[in-house]
Amino acid sequence: MEARVIRGDLQSVTAEVLILFHFEGEVKWLEPTRAVNEATAGMLERVIAAGDFRGEHLEHLLLYAARGLAAERILLTGLGKREELTLHRLRESAAQALKTLRERRLLSAVLPLPEEGEFPFSPGDTAEASVLGGLLGLYQFTELRTKEREKMKEFASLVFLTGVEPEDVALRVAQAEAVAKGVYLTRELVTLPGNLATPRFLAERARKVALDADMRCRVIERAEAEKLGMGAFLAVARGSEEPAVMAEMEYRPEGATGSPVVLVGKGITFDSGGISIKPSENMEMMKHDMAGAAAVIGTMQVVAALKLPVPVVALLPCTENLPSGKAYKPGDVLRSLNGQTIEVISTDAEGRLVLADALSYAKSFAPQALIDLATLTGACVVALGNGVSGLMGNHEDLISRVRAAGEESGEPVWPLPLWDSYLELLKSDVADLKNSGGRKAGAITGGLFLKQFVPDGTPWVHLDIAGSAWEEKDRPLVPKGASGVGVHLLTRLLRGWTPLAAA
Ligand code: BES
Ligand code: MN
Ligand code: ZN
Repeated sequence: MEARVIRGDLQSVTAEVLILFHFEGEVKWLEPTRAVNEATAGMLERVIAAGDFRGEHLEHLLLYAARGLAAERILLTGLGKREELTLHRLRESAAQALKTLRERRLLSAVLPLPEEGEFPFSPGDTAEASVLGGLLGLYQFTELRTKEREKMKEFASLVFLTGVEPEDVALRVAQAEAVAKGVYLTRELVTLPGNLATPRFLAERARKVALDADMRCRVIERAEAEKLGMGAFLAVARGSEEPAVMAEMEYRPEGATGSPVVLVGKGITFDSGGISIKPSENMEMMKHDMAGAAAVIGTMQVVAALKLPVPVVALLPCTENLPSGKAYKPGDVLRSLNGQTIEVISTDAEGRLVLADALSYAKSFAPQALIDLATLTGACVVALGNGVSGLMGNHEDLISRVRAAGEESGEPVWPLPLWDSYLELLKSDVADLKNSGGRKAGAITGGLFLKQFVPDGTPWVHLDIAGSAWEEKDRPLVPKGASGVGVHLLTRLLRGWTPLAAA
């Protein structure tokens, strides 16, 4: 989809469709809607009086424009109640509008932006939300289809009409496009199956993103990981024939010298469970066990595109988790990078092992903040369901910032208590820790395990995205499948980044 901003006049603009916003139950209409009503001799008034359109959130009505208007059609788009409108709900309304049009093979539209005083959001905010929402909602994965591909039409053009400086609005549109592009990349990587999105492939994509944006990128292969002492990461990789890699990306804005925010993403390109093998039903879903790594790659692309003023480092431990004659086994004791020993209870609790070494490795960057994203536990899905990420951490300011970014981005997160009393469940008879605490408090013991590897004094947050990385049914901004969760949230968080308060 191409989005443009022009200064133009409502009556004379030619368009396949004119998108008009309307608040539920409001007598004083938004100016563009009022003007079209007047130009069409009260047509919209009659539609609303007849009860055919109320303006509820996500409601739509497609009309043929009467004489007096150059546009061919009108799509009345409900925003719900004025006092309930948030940027997130506006994104959803725009997404629903464009999807409705695409279904009808209407592939271009003009959207007149409401003026500053009459609308809760500025024209720039409104355009940004509309483009981001539209793009997120319109996403479709066609790469691996050979037949239906031509039939899957793409929405082509969205033009904003504005009375304010088009250049300013266009800048916001470009920012929305950058975020959407990052989400698209993440969704694509998550959707691609394990035979295509291998650990090497992920590292290659990370390298490409880095190269395109003048970022440093380095890939740690097995020999170096061995030398460094990444015994937990390498143990998980042992059952697979695909070489494991730890990719490292570094974004440094011009002139910035401070310590970075470090993002860590779980990159299990397929999780069979290993020797503690998973049931075969739905096992194909475990191709998405690299959604954390994919979200971090997508975020790095956006961070560079938006030229954010904070240095950011990405660490991506990537491997498969498979059973074989060489695979690691329950009972094995591993020595992790920071020297702690781990007794393997379940080879299916592999995510925390690869993350343990990545978190320890982050120490070399002296992070001002450390954030990991991982499809870590089924228990988190049981606790919070789909569409919500579990939040744990050791630093109040960072935790509340992540919560706020979650709310603003429409990617909600919810805290779980990371109390040390739960450590009891991770005590091993033979080693410092065991890698599974059993079924009780599963999401929390996962987080608590990770906490043991966070460098001392480092503000850290863990997001368990096991329930939010994949959607089982269509949502306005997330077509069924890979959600791309994390990219928009982290972008929001990093956009307004300021040094953290002392803990
Ligand atoms: N990748 C899974 C967690 C998962 C489950 C993600 C469902 C998305 C949807 C993870 O590696 C895993 O298998 N975790 C175990 C941990 C247990 C053995 C302590 C789990 O949740 O059962
Ligand atoms: Mn597992
Ligand atoms: Zn896993």
